[in-house]
Amino acid sequence: DAELVSAGEKVFKKCKACHQVGDGAKNKTGPTLNGIVGASAGQVDGFKYSKVMQAAASDGLVWSEDELAAFLAKPKDYMNGTKMSFAGLKKDEDVHAVIAYLMSFQQ
Ligand code: HEM
Repeated sequence: DAELVSAGEKVFKKCKACHQVGDGAKNKTGPTLNGIVGASAGQVDGFKYSKVMQAAASDGLVWSEDELAAFLAKPKDYMNGTKMSFAGLKKDEDVHAVIAYLMSFQQ
């Protein structure tokens, strides 16, 4: 719902150092995140992923809400060797809110 999306927009401030979403989004330190919920991992054009993300992509990882939630809670525990240098979101509610925000950019 709209409140969750708006809460997620605030949480996304922590991601913005590295990721863009929306019209005109570009790859930065991290890949663009338009349409990421439900997408196959490691597929954004022009972004150079880590070896482990490429391996997960080859193994068919799909960013379902559950997989995303696990990754965002503790990126390095979820994927040892990921180059996403982010400690993770401590609060479950922040994880769910940011996923709702990302889902508003599904195009
Ligand atoms: C990868 C989300 C914070 C850098 C990813 C992916 C997602 C994601 C979904 C996988 C993309 C794909 O498979 O195409 C988020 C969210 C964040 C966040 C929601 C905030 C809560 C950050 C921060 C940085 C960062 C702060 C930089 C310090 C990266 C990098 C990758 C990545 C470099 C590629 C990882 C690899 O190839 O191993 N992020 N991210 N992210 N993110 Fe983030």
